[in-house]
Amino acid sequence: MGAKILIGSQWGDEGKGKIIDVLTQDIDWVVRYQGGNNAGHTVEIGDEQYILHLIPSGILRTGTKCVIGHGMVVDPLALKDEMRDLESRGIELGGRLLISDRAHLVMPYHRMLDAGNESQLADGEKIGTTKRGIGPTYADKVSRTGLRVCDMLDPEFEKMLRRRIVSSNKRLRVMGAESMDAERIVSDILEVSEYLKPFIADTIALLNRAMRAGDKILFEGAQGTMLDIDYGSYPFVTSSSSTAGGAATGTGVPPHRIEAVLGVLKAYTTRVGEGPMPTELDDEMGEMLRSEGGEYGATTGRPRRCGWFDAVVARYSAEVNGIDSWALTKLDVLDNVETIKICTAYEVDGERLETVPANARILEKCVPVYEEMDGWQTSISEVSTFEELPAKTKAYIARLEELTGVEAGLLSVGPRRSSTIIMKDCPFTS
Ligand code: GDP
Ligand code: IMO
Ligand code: MG
Repeated sequence: MGAKILIGSQWGDEGKGKIIDVLTQDIDWVVRYQGGNNAGHTVEIGDEQYILHLIPSGILRTGTKCVIGHGMVVDPLALKDEMRDLESRGIELGGRLLISDRAHLVMPYHRMLDAGNESQLADGEKIGTTKRGIGPTYADKVSRTGLRVCDMLDPEFEKMLRRRIVSSNKRLRVMGAESMDAERIVSDILEVSEYLKPFIADTIALLNRAMRAGDKILFEGAQGTMLDIDYGSYPFVTSSSSTAGGAATGTGVPPHRIEAVLGVLKAYTTRVGEGPMPTELDDEMGEMLRSEGGEYGATTGRPRRCGWFDAVVARYSAEVNGIDSWALTKLDVLDNVETIKICTAYEVDGERLETVPANARILEKCVPVYEEMDGWQTSISEVSTFEELPAKTKAYIARLEELTGVEAGLLSVGPRRSSTIIMKDCPFTS
């Protein structure tokens, strides 16, 4: 078997970490291909909660190898903290965690530039980034001025780093921000380089060799389709290719080796940060979804904006990612809702839209066209088979499948591994 991809189908935080953890029981390698520690993937195992930011969620299953692919941007200081935290909780990393030598490095100046860029934007233009330096690092990558993981092994690394600190300090001064202490940064980064050295590898060669040997590979997407640099609600997006196409460019696994794409889809919609979200609810129902769903950012702790399920977004996501099957999550959060709404299309300036418009200013003006369904109004969090679900829950799932043209292979009714219903013929467990 080759490789399969798991991606977020909305604006992130769909529950990817939990689903990856469920699926990795039968997987040899879990590979992240884009983004950085802007991601926050939560996995609950028993009474323990883990939030992974840079390390693939597969690390929690002994026997699975995890790769930080070259499409990612890696903050070495944050990575060391995350590694230390996992090790202190008894998770073995030696020989299991591999960092691509081609991945770009997020340096302290990128974080400062991220905050500086945001502070210069006018209200209405701010993106509400995680301030983890993601945008400036990808900008340096594309400008061909970035530092990569392999540079940490280069005898010239210190010199290269010092030059970039000088030029970043100039940019920061123009923004009116404080300059950075070069000596402090150099000593921190040189120290962390030594710590990370044993984990650095040519992951392209490793993954291709593993595939030839018949190993099973699962790609772990971060963020979601609507945050993708090309497909998302630009400019209110992240700076990487979070859709399925990014998996090939971000890892060196050829596209024709990819056998299936699983979309993680929340039973309603959330978004953190700024930008349009047509089904956002600014009322008691929105508050209920936030509190029942625990909708607070796993990275920044910000309250997530909440709203009804948006079938226009889900259909678009199914199309651009080629989604074969949904993992439909957080169904239990709708347990107490009397009438559930589903957005089936948008209306803008008297016109009906069935697709996502390119212009964020038009998306902002879109008014959802809703249809209503009866809620099931009973707890489903202990249900373990599809047959046991209330008829009204089955009807909601069937309607989402119909509106998106994709069937659900997995249903999630709680944060734990055990709160998962795997449907027959689920392409992800075969
Ligand atoms: P990710 O970024 O896509 O991995 O998602 P996050 O971890 O940021 O946010 C998802 C949150 O929902 C986490 O707190 C999960 O523990 C939780 N979660 C995942 N699946 C379910 C589910 O089916 N029901 C409930 N109630 N919580 C879930
Ligand atoms: P996971 O993987 C939700 C959002 C930020 C901001 C925009 C750009 O946990 O689903 P950035 O720091 O990337 O430049 O911020 O993207 N964002 C996320 N929102 N989940 C995420 O990751 C996100 N990663 C970035 O809030 O609006
Ligand atoms: Mg998250």
